[in-house]
Amino acid sequence: MALYRAHVLVCGGTGCVSSGSREVLGKFREEIAIKGLDKEIMVVETGCHGMCEMGPIVVVYPEGTFYCRVDVEDVPEIVEEHLYKGRVVNRLLYTMPEAIDGIPHYSDIPFYSKQQRNALRNCGYINPDNIDEYIARDGYTAVAKALTTMTSEEVLEEVKTSGLRGRGGGGFPTGLKWSFARKAVGDKKYVICNADEGDPGAFMDRSILEGDPHSVIEGMLLGAYVMGADEGYIYCRAEYPLAIKRLLRAIDEATEYGLLGEHIMGTDFSFTLHVKEGAGAFVCGEETALMASIEGQRGMPRPRPPFPAQKGLWEKPSNINNVETWANVPLIVGKGGEWFASTGTEKSKGTKVFALTGKVKHTGLVEVPMGISLREIVFDIGGGIIDDRKFKAVQIGGPSGGCLTEEHLDLSVDYESLTSAGAIMGSGGLVVMDEDTCMVDVSKFFLEFTQRESCGKCIPCREGTKQMLLLLEKITAGRGTMEDLDHLEELAHMVKEMSLCGLGQTAPNPVLTTLRYFRDEYEAHIRDKHCPAGACGALIRYEIDPERCRKCGLCAKECPVDCIAGDRKTPYVIDQERCIKCGSCLEVCPFGAVLKK
Ligand SMILES: Cc1cc2nc3c(=O)[nH]c(=O)nc-3n(C[C@H](O)[C@H](O)[C@H](O)COP(=O)(O)O)c2cc1C
Ligand code: SF4
Ligand code: SF4
Ligand code: FES
Repeated sequence: MALYRAHVLVCGGTGCVSSGSREVLGKFREEIAIKGLDKEIMVVETGCHGMCEMGPIVVVYPEGTFYCRVDVEDVPEIVEEHLYKGRVVNRLLYTMPEAIDGIPHYSDIPFYSKQQRNALRNCGYINPDNIDEYIARDGYTAVAKALTTMTSEEVLEEVKTSGLRGRGGGGFPTGLKWSFARKAVGDKKYVICNADEGDPGAFMDRSILEGDPHSVIEGMLLGAYVMGADEGYIYCRAEYPLAIKRLLRAIDEATEYGLLGEHIMGTDFSFTLHVKEGAGAFVCGEETALMASIEGQRGMPRPRPPFPAQKGLWEKPSNINNVETWANVPLIVGKGGEWFASTGTEKSKGTKVFALTGKVKHTGLVEVPMGISLREIVFDIGGGIIDDRKFKAVQIGGPSGGCLTEEHLDLSVDYESLTSAGAIMGSGGLVVMDEDTCMVDVSKFFLEFTQRESCGKCIPCREGTKQMLLLLEKITAGRGTMEDLDHLEELAHMVKEMSLCGLGQTAPNPVLTTLRYFRDEYEAHIRDKHCPAGACGALIRYEIDPERCRKCGLCAKECPVDCIAGDRKTPYVIDQERCIKCGSCLEVCPFGAVLKK
């Protein structure tokens, strides 16, 4: 194998590709060839590094120099200065919002320094389209160890010891779930990977599939060995074309290397793997709906029992795990269950990947040890709130999750603590909100999503979420009554308790948590016809402060409906009846005399 003195890693994740990383990659190859450096410097297209908003990202090894927002025009300078003359290009380094100097090394950037990348261990480090690069980072050694030195019971014991819990939302102990499918009697069994990732804003699973598909395949091989399955499916939504492309290539490569197919590594164990593209319905992430969809039927949940472990895909015993869950398995078998369990809390072991979004300075994918506090995620890793505004809440767990407040900032991020506070770990969506966010509006946003995605099979979910949404619309429009609030709460409990599947059972969570922690905001919308955050259009009022008004008339000139009256002698006044709340006057007033209430 050829030796290279430097590696240029160009991010090829969806985020960076959309900001032009393919062109950057091509330019690096071209410039390096022009300089005659192609025998000593290797250019690698990798998966996502997590800091997608700073993309395209380029990392140069062996130093680990982290360049961000790299443009095609920047490439000749990096090649000339860094790769040819050994001088770092300072202007392209990552800079903290308040600092002047850039941070040269990946590991020193605060966004990364508190992270512990297990499931994301290879994302951003290897070329996902080259099985040799996965193998070079100990890939497939766990399968080799399991098949040649361990019984399937021993592998199961390691997974149980690790304390791994499903990362797809429910947090069910993986080892226990595997033991059900293992015990099930059947001539044929299936293992399935849930790569539907329906939560809005979430892209944890996509990044793993795009950046390190072999880790999922290896995890599934280990699961199949334990459960006695010889066939598997990866159910991935069709909106993830790059993930599907990388998966298909990885399956081909693994098959070519004899890691998939008949008699793997010369043993009696055989396993084939298929990719099934899903049409992108949120409910298809629910496991019984997912299996119906693989079978070619309409993706609708069915009552359980029977559980998939007894009657799953084509009525055969089946086991479904999430992408991140599968990606953790090779580490557990390779390094041992005890090693995995040494990170995290008593009941929540290992690390969790979150998609950090909203009003934080640094958004992106972060993998942190369980037990970390929300404060550390939001302020140390996320860099705090944009424009140093006040933190208000964090919505955790996606559309089925809940909103937590400032008093929860020091809460340990683990399954039990989050559930006791009314939220859930979910699959890892984490939306940070500032003082300008209206919590009633937020719960309406999530409910709009779940209501739209309800499959309609059962009445509490189909009709209940619809009625809840109508009530929220009434409240945010300033037409709500206190009875509506009671009715909303009653309905929320009813939908939660009576729905057939997890979609309906969790859809009321955002409403219930905001009612629990921000009830005063609901009451302000109803009693005072006022939105404290100034976010609900129908309840906003623009007024002119006569003390501050300098009578310049700019606002009246700008107003598109001519509803501001005044003259050079008296302060200007807005006619509230005619005002359309466009905010033009607020924007144009040079003296801060227009107030948004
Ligand atoms: C409406 C709904 C949507 C879901 N969407 C997903 C999803 O996109 N990805 C996922 O892994 N699990 C999803 N789940 C959870 C799965 O049904 C299942 O519990 C999970 O895939 C099991 O894997 P785990 O034990 O590794 O978490 C969803 C559940 C419900 C009720
Ligand atoms: S709870 Fe909602 S999504 Fe689930 S089966 Fe009932 S109608 Fe369909
Ligand atoms: S732009 Fe401001 S200062 Fe000028 S008239 Fe309007 S409110 Fe008064
Ligand atoms: S896609 Fe490049 S950092 Fe995420």
